[in-house]
Amino acid sequence: MKISIVGAGNVGSTLAERILNHGLADVVLLDIREDLAKAKAFDLADTRPLMDYKKSVIGTGDYNEIRNSQIVVITAGFPRKPGMTRDNLIHKNSEIIKEVLKNIKKNSPEAILVIVTNPLDIMTYLAYKESGCDRRKIIGMAGNLDTARFKALLFRQTGVPPDKIETFVLGSHGDTMVPLVSKTLIDGKPLENVLDKENITSLLARTKKRGGEVIALLKSGSAYYSPSAACFEILRAIINDEKKTIPCSCILEGEYGMRDCAIGVPAKLGKSGVEKILEWKLPPDELGALRKSAKLVKDALGKLGERKNARSK
Ligand code: APR
Repeated sequence: MKISIVGAGNVGSTLAERILNHGLADVVLLDIREDLAKAKAFDLADTRPLMDYKKSVIGTGDYNEIRNSQIVVITAGFPRKPGMTRDNLIHKNSEIIKEVLKNIKKNSPEAILVIVTNPLDIMTYLAYKESGCDRRKIIGMAGNLDTARFKALLFRQTGVPPDKIETFVLGSHGDTMVPLVSKTLIDGKPLENVLDKENITSLLARTKKRGGEVIALLKSGSAYYSPSAACFEILRAIINDEKKTIPCSCILEGEYGMRDCAIGVPAKLGKSGVEKILEWKLPPDELGALRKSAKLVKDALGKLGERKNARSK
């Protein structure tokens, strides 16, 4: 198994370490800053005797090295700075995604693509368009990160450990994300029976701003431990053919009444990528919020001029 990661920065290199720690696959770290990719790979390779890695890692700037990857993860791009929204990155990062996709298409056209670059849903749709791939092979990492953030805050508030909390966050990776209160169980009890309305509202708001909180404190760069862990969960589900339901950004063609966009929905992930998008019956307020979130993604794509030629399948 071989996983290539384009973008050897904070998320990419932390993800490489997670893959090696778990022995999931051989890793290629590629970056436009070739020396950075090489340095990270050397450093990780030197860790092998200490951590007993069984898999290899190389760093490169040459796309030839990504040939025959089962999965290519794209983290290349600019992260947010304090005060920026994810949408502020749209123009710079869309140019990067297009260039990266051209190279992936040439060198590893069969790979499943996992997108991490922000603004996530927009970059995921661009990757779909640029790659020409089957939509099942395009996965945007965000819903499980937003879900983890919501769970972590619920844990702090209730004291119930995360493995006894069930919840899902759908929608776009941004201010219009949709934490599903209707599907949230705290140790088997509905959230609304555990916390009062005011508390829930404040936790939902904090979940949406959690990434921004980290950026404001870091002052340069954005979160990478939880994004790389969320990405790892997706890679493991694919490589081990787990058929696990993970909220992630998928290309919709009619699901939830939406099409021609990428948005966070529950997806069963396995060796073919998105094996099924689950269509849950949602209460009208949550379904409405999901559709509103998708509309904003579509509007942004429209402004970028990317939906004029929306693919028709
Ligand atoms: N090709 C290859 N690599 C590139 C290119 C390119 N055209 N452009 C930029 N890169 C590389 C940079 O050199 C850098 O090493 O992408 C890497 C990005 O790493 P960081 O700046 O550390 O950013 P990171 O925190 O990893 O976030 C990457 O993921 O979570 C999102 O918002 C985040 O869009 C950002 C992305």
